[in-house]
Amino acid sequence: MTPPEISLLDTARRDRIYTLAEARSFAFGDEVAEVFDDMISRSVPCYLESQLLISSLASQYYKPGTTVYDLGCSTGTSVALVAKRLRELSPQIVGVDSSGPMLQKAEKKLTALEVAGFIRLEQKSIEEVDFNASSLVLLNYTLQFLDLVAREELLKRIYASLVPGGALFLSEKTRCLDEQEGEIVRVLHEDFKRQHGYSDSEIAKKRESLKGVLVPLTPEQNEALLHKAGFERVVRVMQGYGFISWVAIA
Ligand SMILES: C[S@@+](CC[C@H](N)C(=O)[O-])C[C@H]1O[C@@H](n2cnc3c(N)ncnc32)[C@H](O)[C@@H]1O
Repeated sequence: MTPPEISLLDTARRDRIYTLAEARSFAFGDEVAEVFDDMISRSVPCYLESQLLISSLASQYYKPGTTVYDLGCSTGTSVALVAKRLRELSPQIVGVDSSGPMLQKAEKKLTALEVAGFIRLEQKSIEEVDFNASSLVLLNYTLQFLDLVAREELLKRIYASLVPGGALFLSEKTRCLDEQEGEIVRVLHEDFKRQHGYSDSEIAKKRESLKGVLVPLTPEQNEALLHKAGFERVVRVMQGYGFISWVAIA
């Protein structure tokens, strides 16, 4: 059975950015925002499942009177799901993203899904968020775009904002310490993309364009960052190829 949440993804516009364009440094501008839902669901293994996990976490960890933060909310898929799941509780939800075009897409999605009233969208860097008390914070494939010092700082601030028993959901593309193991995962992931309709040339150009923009850590480095920020309980809840999701409890 198709999960009902799948309709949250706007995949009408197909990602063809690298069919003609040459590789250039990746940015979350108009062109990417327009096709983002299609791009991420054909590039990130288990992306839809990460959204289903987020919906489950909202129902289990949200505490009335606190705020849910989605840092790097892109086109609003996660905040829409959280709002749908918690609608009866009139939740406070904040989606933050530095990309104006992403937030414009998010606004349209939230309005169409009739959940806009629960969600405040803020255009700013996630490094500049003033956190209220929170019970759930989402970092679904966003932390990987910050430099290492900023990652550490942000995780500490998230930990400090969470009420006891609150949860951080973190998903990251990871790298293997061992080069040969890394090569096995890379080849498999490229074939995942091939099977989702990307050509070899599109795959190569995208890989080139993300160099130095998305900087993956090893799973162990990510877990060390979470512990250093204060989280004692850190659970790997999902892995698809090198893409890993954790739940960390405050
Ligand atoms: C891979 S997308 C995240 C996907 C999204 N969380 C989801 O589940 O669909 C990364 C997002 O983070 C945003 N971003 C990257 N660096 C940022 C920063 N420093 N501050 C705010 N947003 C940032 C980008 O604009 C982009 O929308």
